[in-house]
Amino acid sequence: MVDFGVGILGTGKYLPDKILTNGDLEKMVDTSDEWIVRRTGMKKRHLLDDNTPSYMMGAEAARLAIEDASLTPMDIDLIIVSTETPDYLTPSMSCLIQKDINAENAAAFDVNAACTGFVYALTIARQFIQTGYYNHILIVANEGLSRIVDWESRNTCVLFGDAAGAVVLGKVDKEYGIRESYLASFGNLGHNLTIPCCYISEEDRQKRGAGKERVIWQDGSEVFTFAVRSMAECVKTVVEKANITIEDVDLIIPHQANLRIINGAAKRLGVEDDKISVILQETGNISSASVPVALDMENKKGRLKKGDTVVLVAFGGGLTCGSILLTWGK
Ligand code: COA
Repeated sequence: MVDFGVGILGTGKYLPDKILTNGDLEKMVDTSDEWIVRRTGMKKRHLLDDNTPSYMMGAEAARLAIEDASLTPMDIDLIIVSTETPDYLTPSMSCLIQKDINAENAAAFDVNAACTGFVYALTIARQFIQTGYYNHILIVANEGLSRIVDWESRNTCVLFGDAAGAVVLGKVDKEYGIRESYLASFGNLGHNLTIPCCYISEEDRQKRGAGKERVIWQDGSEVFTFAVRSMAECVKTVVEKANITIEDVDLIIPHQANLRIINGAAKRLGVEDDKISVILQETGNISSASVPVALDMENKKGRLKKGDTVVLVAFGGGLTCGSILLTWGK
């Protein structure tokens, strides 16, 4: 029985300066600001410059998270990066970030659970600290979706943006930190959201236009249905595991894919809007970076109070979903 908790010691984020508004998208594809706001809630997204490697966002978010934890890069024992848009398959994003921030004592590897990746990475990291194997773990969610979007497809290009979010995980007093987590995968539904890499099936080739083998494709309405149901179930599961009720939760930080998905899940749970963190109007869907970027925004604006019960919840490609319930201890 361990006599300590495993909690978040620091948070950080990076959003590129370049902004793409709904008005800009009106000039690129057959869409309108009115449609995008009504159907998704999004108003703008941040985009990387073509010449900047995506890992630079993660390195910047990591530096801020380490500083917020009052640590130095040399204190980090392990780096886990969640990404579905790596700059290279090797070196991994975690090794690229390790080099950039000079975290010379750290081991490093990547995790791909698409938009649920941060929840997966946090759950993995928790085990290493609980067992005493490591003391300080840096978790970065680093996503450059603009690199794999079909900019001629209004079905997808209005939805995504680029960003990175980071946290440092470590030991905290035993009444704080991660209390429960839940992970699930549904490989049989994977065909509903795909980004080919080193191979593409004939079916997936046909879904895309010629010369667009590497772009993201999704069946929006199938993913929508999965998202509302799975987000609500994931929240319920960790709340039940923690032996509390939904009324005891102070803040839910969900993956930011569509305001209608968030509202649909909230309605199923019977949760008021003011208990849910929403940032997608500023960021669009930034995949696994959404939860840590929103967490950093809430942390830095003082919305999180010591002792608050917080639920992180996400769904995404795979298909995957997962949730974490924690007691905020900063
Ligand atoms: N601008 C204007 N019209 C658009 C449009 C756009 N950007 N994108 C789609 N449309 C049109 C469609 O072509 C369709 O027209 P039609 O009826 O003439 O065929 C109409 O709007 C309705 O399309 P539909 O797909 O039913 O829209 P929707 O309300 O379901 O919204 C999504 C589409 C993609 C926004 C929504 O399904 C969604 O958010 N799905 C989940 C996706 C997701 O979360 N993915 C990431 C997982 S991490």
